[in-house]
Amino acid sequence: MYLQKKGNKYWACCPFHSEKTPSFVVNEDEQYYHCFGCGKSGNVITFLMEHERMNYTEAVEALAKEAHMELPEEEDPEIRIRRARIAKIIAANKAAARFFYTSLKTEAASGAVEYMEKRNISPEIRVAFGMGYSPDGYSLLRAMEKQGFSRSTLVAAGLVNEDGYDPLAKRLIIPIINAKGEVIGFGGRTLDKDIKPKYRNTKGTPVFDKRKNLFNVNLFKKTQADEKHSSIVLTEGYMDVISLYQAGIHNVVASMGTSLTTEQCEEIRRYVSEVYVCFDGDAAGQGATWRSLDMLKEAGLEVSVMSLPDGMDPDDVINKMGADGFRQLMKSALPLTEFKIRTLAARQNLNTLRGRENFALSTLPVLEALDPIGRETHIALVSELSGLSKDSIANSLSDYRAGNAARAGAKHTVQDADTAVKENVNAANLNMCRFVLSSVVEGKNYVRLGDFTEEFFTDPVHKAIYGYIAERIEKKDRPPVKGDLFDLAPENTEEVNAVITAVDKLPQDKQADYYAACLTKMREKSRKERIAEITGQLKTAEGDLKSRLEQELLELLKKH
Ligand code: UTP
Ligand code: MN
Repeated sequence: MYLQKKGNKYWACCPFHSEKTPSFVVNEDEQYYHCFGCGKSGNVITFLMEHERMNYTEAVEALAKEAHMELPEEEDPEIRIRRARIAKIIAANKAAARFFYTSLKTEAASGAVEYMEKRNISPEIRVAFGMGYSPDGYSLLRAMEKQGFSRSTLVAAGLVNEDGYDPLAKRLIIPIINAKGEVIGFGGRTLDKDIKPKYRNTKGTPVFDKRKNLFNVNLFKKTQADEKHSSIVLTEGYMDVISLYQAGIHNVVASMGTSLTTEQCEEIRRYVSEVYVCFDGDAAGQGATWRSLDMLKEAGLEVSVMSLPDGMDPDDVINKMGADGFRQLMKSALPLTEFKIRTLAARQNLNTLRGRENFALSTLPVLEALDPIGRETHIALVSELSGLSKDSIANSLSDYRAGNAARAGAKHTVQDADTAVKENVNAANLNMCRFVLSSVVEGKNYVRLGDFTEEFFTDPVHKAIYGYIAERIEKKDRPPVKGDLFDLAPENTEEVNAVITAVDKLPQDKQADYYAACLTKMREKSRKERIAEITGQLKTAEGDLKSRLEQELLELLKKH
């Protein structure tokens, strides 16, 4: 990014939207950026979070690293203890992974080695994934205790049961490694087809939640630097990932036997904008699959759905059709909506009148969710598949939408009127709060900090901003800096932005008057709220408290 200095600000083309003339400004004194084109603003941490797609902790760590700075020692003892426990579990997992890996070279592991050969897993790939073997129930415990790990750490890590037994004994071991390269858990596959379950995973621990993690993010991230993937292939199983990876398709991850979660979808979105969903051949029509597909879309991903030949999983495809065969299937993957429509078509017998009608009707909820252009192109597809005219489908769709709207309307009109009034009041109050805070942040000369207290604000972001400024002013060691405000609410930078920009929405000469008016209104509001609160408390209050409340109530009533 090229930054050009003008005055005390730097200008550049905005990295968050595409533009030819710079509207992205970095304010060095205030330590924050703002784009006048797309409205994004923030500080160095939110920049790393949004632009480099890091989470908050990663961003802070990256900054510390950049500055060759040790992060300050955590002050909260509870957090410190928890961190130490997590570090121990991670260390134990790493040592266990090494133990499993070296066990692969022992005689006891000959079955596991044969099994991997049978499944065409090359020696290089075994190493890349750190695959291993757990020879029997208790040797892990012995080896780990020898290295100084306590039994309780091993139990907390899920490596052994209470009785010291390794739940993954006699299984082929696949380490599960997070994006930071830490071993967080293991999957163990039985070598004996009669033993159930086929896979056993480490139980949930403070570092492992299979609903929040994806298998293979570590290698994906590693190859990402050179290969600049814009998409990820999402599969269901460990072996699918290993097999695709071996075939040179490195941008592949898997959920671990649970249906997809929002966290997992968001994690994928942090890395790429497009996902190829590659579930087993028979999963496509199932409800859970559709829900997963919608979740990926809701996370902001462009979703393409691959169809595998019936009964095959991605690993089978690689083994039977090779990497080229798989890439061919990727090319013919269908965009989500087209996939849904074609799946609905496949459920009906389109040779019959009834089947064609049922099919067309079943597509209406899918069509309804689209924007006008998408609607037009997909109505054409439904028409082509059903032989019905585009007009009749479009007419049915508007009936369907009108029906939905009417049903929804009947339920909500009374409630709506009510909430509309409340919402207007709330919106007005929100704008006043923003304006007042904004004036404080800008250090406007008509502001006196004694004008109000933190209680004026109900929004937690506002409270935090007020608290920050009050503290800065009180301590006098460092004046408030706008960039800091984004640290107060990294998850809600829009609100911080709304506060920072509020004061400029009014011409300079009107600001002081409006500020005074806001204060009066806000004081009145907070007075009324306090009166209501006291009246409530007085119903049950006794003795000393009662007389104090009565005194306060009198004062409040006099003020008017
Ligand atoms: P699959 O049975 O499709 O996995 O289960 P796979 O990787 O293709 O297995 P094989 O080795 O080729 O037969 C998909 C995923 O569901 C989880 C695992 O994460 C597996 O990779 N799973 C499956 C379990 O956790 N436990 C089970 O018993 C089975
Ligand atoms: Mn398989």
